[in-house]
Parts: sequence; structure tokens; C-alpha cells
Amino acid sequence: MDRSVGIVADESSIMKAVEPLPEDFDPTAVIKDPVPPVVENNGSVRGVTKMREDKSKREIVLGRNVHTSCLEVTEPDADDEMTGDRDAYMASVLARYRKSLMERTKHHLGYPYNLDFDYGALAQLQHFSINNLGDPFIESNYGVHSRQFEVGVLDWFARLWEIEKNEYWGYITNCGTEGNLHGILVGREVFPDGILYTSRETHYSIFKAARMYRMECMKVDTHCTGEIDCDDFKAKISRNKDKPAIVNVNIGTTVKGAVDDLDLVIKTLEEAGFSHNRFYIHCDGALFGLMMPFVKRAPKVSFKKPIGSVSVSGHKFVGCPMPCGVQITRLEHVNVLSRNVEYLASRDATIMGSRNGHAPIFLWYTLNRKGYRGFQKEVQKCLRNAHYLKDRLRDSGIGAMLNELSSTVVFERPHDEEFTRRWQLACQGNIAHVVVMPNITIEKLDKFLEELVVKRAKWFEDGNCQPRCIASDVGESSCLCALHK
Ligand SMILES: Cc1ncc(COP(=O)(O)O)c(C=O)c1O
Repeated sequence: MDRSVGIVADESSIMKAVEPLPEDFDPTAVIKDPVPPVVENNGSVRGVTKMREDKSKREIVLGRNVHTSCLEVTEPDADDEMTGDRDAYMASVLARYRKSLMERTKHHLGYPYNLDFDYGALAQLQHFSINNLGDPFIESNYGVHSRQFEVGVLDWFARLWEIEKNEYWGYITNCGTEGNLHGILVGREVFPDGILYTSRETHYSIFKAARMYRMECMKVDTHCTGEIDCDDFKAKISRNKDKPAIVNVNIGTTVKGAVDDLDLVIKTLEEAGFSHNRFYIHCDGALFGLMMPFVKRAPKVSFKKPIGSVSVSGHKFVGCPMPCGVQITRLEHVNVLSRNVEYLASRDATIMGSRNGHAPIFLWYTLNRKGYRGFQKEVQKCLRNAHYLKDRLRDSGIGAMLNELSSTVVFERPHDEEFTRRWQLACQGNIAHVVVMPNITIEKLDKFLEELVVKRAKWFEDGNCQPRCIASDVGESSCLCALHK
């Protein structure tokens, strides 16, 4: 009897399951230009002939954008190990990529990432597959983890947001989005029939959560600053008093850096007749969650208030080579979505399964180095520099707005996509913004302004093109178009 029957599949069934290789497949083929393109000082790409380069407009075409500049993976040649060709090829690819990264890091203004950090001391940990799968507070059988760092970081944030160690639960997430997905999920588990309310200027991750969890979601109007309009909020919750309210409060909106007034949101809920056991508030503090505590006049995010969860991104204000975030909620809430998992020997209450065990160590490292006082200084510097940028833009005749508690400077969208790409500005409609982070110095802002002023003179020189009107985005008083200046 053939003992392998039933264990090894016969060849024909394998061929059915695996797509056959094309006849012209040549595993030894060498790619012609194996070196990745280098990004030039002006943000354009050198050495790419196939790249679709329409400088004025960049379309988003699903499935087509990345393939034009991808670095193909090729199979090693039989003698590569002997000749060292492959190692040399890969080293050159990485060297050119590193050069591009350095250039791109130098000209970055639009996204809320602190690119200034030095984690050289942690390079020694790269050789370990550190994974905190499961619950941060319940050690799993997988021993290569960093829970001791994770819980240290969580305790730091719990202190910042004023909740006792034995009253909170949290974890280090993959990013701010995961924190939002978790916060809204907890809200929905606490109130399965609740309606989600959030301002229309909310980050897309909250609307994504509503879609994923199939929740009824109501968009609330905003003021021109980007802050939630509590009159509209009151009108909407008052029409739906029969259902609990799950509210997302923005501690800094993505585009305008507007901070919703948490106290007013709570007061509005109370005035509309919602007792504390009829609403759940998640605070999305992706960027400003870590800045607000250090700004004197800012509304305080605190678990002493009736809030259910707070999340923040770790790679934004702290700065980290990999995206990460922190999510903190009340211990009493998290039990509703926890399940014991025997295979892990831990508990599952997170959105993801495997969890980046390096990220907590990076966060722990920076928190230790800077401490509360270090962050306070950085926040002050960012706010000062943001005011400097806003004032200089306006002095140059460029419409600009800066919310009082924010370091996000909103201004007229540049007329030239190449300039936008060079400085990696984030744009929406007629406006663009610069998020002033700790790595953005006055010298960098001066260079940016200088270039912008020269470019504008060119865009407007023949009179065919006019400064954009941004009054409907940020209010007439911040607009310097022909009509409003
Ligand atoms: C207000 C707000 N919430 C959530 C996010 C998502 O954060 P992340 O990019 O870390 O997922 C962002 C990102 O910019 C944001 O601005």
C-alpha cells in the first residue's frame, strides 16, 4: 500500500490549485535599471522614464499609481552568493533610497509628524521579533514581548489624562486610526443602539468606523474655525433622545487643527436631557492629544469628566520611525469586548492581533528623555513658530488662519502642484496647511516663505490667475483675496 496516499496531493491537483508560470518566465532575468529613482531637491524624480509625470495634476487611479515606480523583486542568480552582485545591488538600492528619504525629510511641512528624533540606542533591538499580541496586562505564552515598556507608557498617558491605574485599560495601537476604531467600538458595545455624532470636519477614520460597525452616524455642522457647532449638535441630539449618544470629540481636527470644546459638548448633552449613563464620548486626540495638556488656556481632556476613551498617535508629536498610537479607556468598559483566547494564553480586546512590540519601546524612550517638561517646551516652540508663519504669510498678502490652540497654519492652496509636492503640503479644496512640529525651525519656514512669495509673483504676474478666495473655508477675516482684502 502506498503510505503517502491522502498525505501528499498528486501533481494534477497541485497544478489546479497553483497558477502555472508563464512560458516566457525567466527566473534569471536581470532588471535593466535596478536602482530606485532619486528624489531631487525640487521634489521631482530623476531617472524614471516610465513614470507618468503630469506635473500640473496628479490623478488618483486605483491600482496604477504605485506600479509605475515599483522596485521589482527579482530572483537571485545561482552565482550571486559567490560574486556578491546581489548584495551590492541591494546595498545600492538602499543607499539611494536613504538619500531620497533625507531629502524628503528636509522638505516636509504638511503632515503632523515630528521627524526629529534619534533612536540610535535602540538599533540593537532590530534583531528581535518583538510582538505584544494579546492584552498588555496579561502576559501571553509568547515571551519575546515588551509589555513592561507598554504598560509604563500607558501609565504615563493615564496620568496625563487623569485616570487611576486600577481604573483604566489601554494599549499601544498601530496608529491614531486604530485608537479611533477601538474607541468607537467600545462606545458601540456600551450602547449597541447608540447614534454616532461627530463634526463634519472629523478625520475619515471615524466615518470609517461608522461604516465598519454599521452604525447610524450624524454629521454635525462646524464653525469656520472647524470647531463643532454645539447649537446644531443640540438640535440633532434633541431629535433623537430615545437613543443613546456616542460622540466623537476632536482634540484637533485634521485640516484646521480645531479643538472641539469638550466641556460645551458635555453641557449640551446634559441640557438636552442625556444623563451620564446615556452617552459615551471618545476624544480623538491624534495630534493635539499630547499638545493640549501643555497649553494653559486649552480645554482639559480628563477622565475626571464623563468621557469614555482618548486616543493619540505616537508618531505625530512624539515622533517615531513607525506609525503607532495610544488608546486609553475605562476598565469597566473594556470588559464588554474582551474574550479569553486559550491559544494566546491572554485576552483579546484589541483591534489587531499581532501588535508591534518595538513601538512601545520607542515611545518609552522618548517619554523618558523628554518628560513632561520637555514636551511643554516643544509645544510652546511649535505654537510660537506657527504664529510666526501665520503672521509672515499675512504680511506677504497671503490669506491665512491659525486657531488659537493649534499649530496648524491654514492658507491659500498654492497654484502649482509641483510646489505643493516639493514641500509635501496637505491640501483640501482651496486651502493648504502647514503643521508646525518640533522639527520645523524658523529657518525652514523662512525658506518656504521665500520660495512661496517668488512663486506667487510668477503665478499672478500676467493677471490671468488670482489669489484664491478662502473665505468660505476659514472666514472672511482670514481671507486676502481681491474681494476680501
Ligand atoms: C484628527 C485625526 N484623527 C485621526 C487621525 C489618524 O491618525 P493616524 O494617521 O495615526 O492613523 C488623524 C491623522 O492625521 C487626524 O488628524
